[in-house]
Amino acid sequence: MAGQPYHDRDGSIWFNGQMVDWRACNLHVLTHSLHYGGAVFEGERVYGGNVFRLREHTQRLIDSAKMLGYDIPYTAGQIDEATNAVIRAQNITDGYVRPVAWRGSEMMGVAAQKSTIHLAIAAWEWPSYFDPEARARGIRLTLSRWKRPSPETAPVKAKTSGLYAICTLGKHEAESRGFHDALMLDWRGRVAEATGANFFMVKNGEIHTPVPDCFLDGITRRTVIELARRRNIPVHERVILPAELKDAEEIFLTGTAAEVTAVGQIDDLTFKAGPVAAQLGADYAAEVRGKMEKAA
Ligand SMILES: Cc1ncc(COP(=O)(O)O)c(C=O)c1O
Repeated sequence: MAGQPYHDRDGSIWFNGQMVDWRACNLHVLTHSLHYGGAVFEGERVYGGNVFRLREHTQRLIDSAKMLGYDIPYTAGQIDEATNAVIRAQNITDGYVRPVAWRGSEMMGVAAQKSTIHLAIAAWEWPSYFDPEARARGIRLTLSRWKRPSPETAPVKAKTSGLYAICTLGKHEAESRGFHDALMLDWRGRVAEATGANFFMVKNGEIHTPVPDCFLDGITRRTVIELARRRNIPVHERVILPAELKDAEEIFLTGTAAEVTAVGQIDDLTFKAGPVAAQLGADYAAEVRGKMEKAA
């Protein structure tokens, strides 16, 4: 469902160092990153007026750009400050922040050494990523025919626009067949992640999650692992093969947008939205608002 288009909204966006009217934040059609990929971005969530783990997101943005061969011309401190300024300007209490950096239009060809680097940060109110009713029951996934590439094929640790081309293909295909999202394997056929969230499985009350060696080691993933360990739930980072999914007691996804989302179905396998995902979902909700007690 498309709501108000993103280019046509009130407010302001931090655009190359200044607050600019939302509708005036446009790019030229000969922008390098539009043609050749290579934009880098973040998805951040605002809870009670603050971005959860802002510095980690800012650092990942800077690191993603470096992996793509360019430097964002602002320090982490400046980017954090700009992010907070946008949130205040937009008066966001609970919402989403999208910083994006890209190569400009000085060169139009594969090479782009002389391109200027741009940065914009937009923020808006944002509800749940998956619809709340589906989340309560567990969302439905289907296996994607698109595979996460090998680290020899792409800068797999960067959150870069080019890598999302296959995510959009997978998500469209899933939605056109009535599923909420696609589960992607990696180039070796191992379970990797969903199109915008990391993957977890519960077996015998213990948590198993794939080793993030060719996809994002999500900030939410790391947080949820920490929360599970605080509850003394063992967490195993290991190779997971699709044949193992049928024995899972629970499956859930984690991500800034998805938070902790139970999975109710993967193609013809069904799962219960169970107690481990519910507990970690509640712990995550407390943690993001600074209300989670530290381990004794
Ligand atoms: C492809 C992909 N994997 C994993 C994640 C989860 O990362 P994070 O928890 O840092 O949001 C995201 C979301 O950013 C994503 O787009």
